[in-house]
Amino acid sequence: MSLKILLLGANGFIGSNLSEYILRNRDWSVFAMDIQSDKLDGCLGHKNFTFVEGDITINREWVEYHVKKCDVVIPLVAIATPATYVREPLRVFELDFEANLRVVRDCVRYKKRVVFPSTSEVYGMNTESEFDEETSNLVLGPVAMQRWIYACSKQLLDRVIFAYGEGGQLDYTLFRPFNWIGPRLDNIWAAKEGSSRVLTQFIGNIIRRENIQLVDGGSQRRCFLYIDDAIDALIRIIENKGGQASKHIFNIGHPKNDLSIRQLAELLVRMISRYPGYENVANEMKIVSVGSGDYYGKGYQDITVRVPSIRNAERYLGWKPTTDLETAVRKTLDYYLVSKHPETGDLDMSGM
Ligand code: UGA
Repeated sequence: MSLKILLLGANGFIGSNLSEYILRNRDWSVFAMDIQSDKLDGCLGHKNFTFVEGDITINREWVEYHVKKCDVVIPLVAIATPATYVREPLRVFELDFEANLRVVRDCVRYKKRVVFPSTSEVYGMNTESEFDEETSNLVLGPVAMQRWIYACSKQLLDRVIFAYGEGGQLDYTLFRPFNWIGPRLDNIWAAKEGSSRVLTQFIGNIIRRENIQLVDGGSQRRCFLYIDDAIDALIRIIENKGGQASKHIFNIGHPKNDLSIRQLAELLVRMISRYPGYENVANEMKIVSVGSGDYYGKGYQDITVRVPSIRNAERYLGWKPTTDLETAVRKTLDYYLVSKHPETGDLDMSGM
């Protein structure tokens, strides 16, 4: 099966890892757009990779033309860092919702399958011990808590996509990443406070010998999934053998890689101290607690426990994660501390 894939936001964490995997392991053509290309060294120049530097909110004709031309559309352009949800909520709405809605409508118009990134954040402050795609409530805070504009934008798109599907107008799969980690997650060398997700934020703190800041004490928990497991799930979704992924929502996460943010900080200090040049980090580093209002601003609210049910992914995709937490963290550290890939630029608006 030779597919033509349209990948918007190809230079992001997910997009760059997915592109590389596809080019190495499948005979598919990837048509890619992003505002930057610094993470695409492994892809640029490949015969099956067509890259255009551009902005989906400006280069709309290119996007529409390629939706028409391709078989599967994967729109990964989004702001996905919580600090930005609080500081620039309208940018989040305009990019994550409005710009992506246009792409979804192009998919409806040209009858193309869309594989769309929802998010673990749609479950919000639900207190269940694990989140189920079909039965869990989506629980968001008050309007003044602007953190939720991301979850709300994503949730509304989930509902729009679902409605098009129910109306027989769209073939889709929604996937919900639960804290994916790995090489190229965020740019730790140009890190601004709050511009990274927690793992890369902490690695950057340690490298710069800054205090690690635990927001509200760090007892909140996350489950981390290694990117190779995530890409394995995405490939199964894109291949869609026998239509097994169509019109489903999949949590893609690792329920067993569950730990508190404080434990994550301690694990990182321990693991980084094994790398040359970092032997003394445990003595040099301080792990401190900071209030969320001071760290993010007053529009922040958090998620205490977030564990995915992955039964749907097991049942319909035959997928299960295989990388344990320590291995996932070690492979990520090898990338950031050993290969020292020199990325530059502000990744805020790049793909997810
Ligand atoms: C993330 C982001 O919204 C998205 O990247 C994504 O859609 C989703 O969740 C996901 O990947 O599942 P969150 O897990 O809250 O949300 O994002 P992080 O910035 O990685 O923060 C994780 C936790 O660490 C939060 O509780 C945060 O308060 C805490 N944190 C973060 C700290 O304690 N210190 C820091 O310096 C940074």
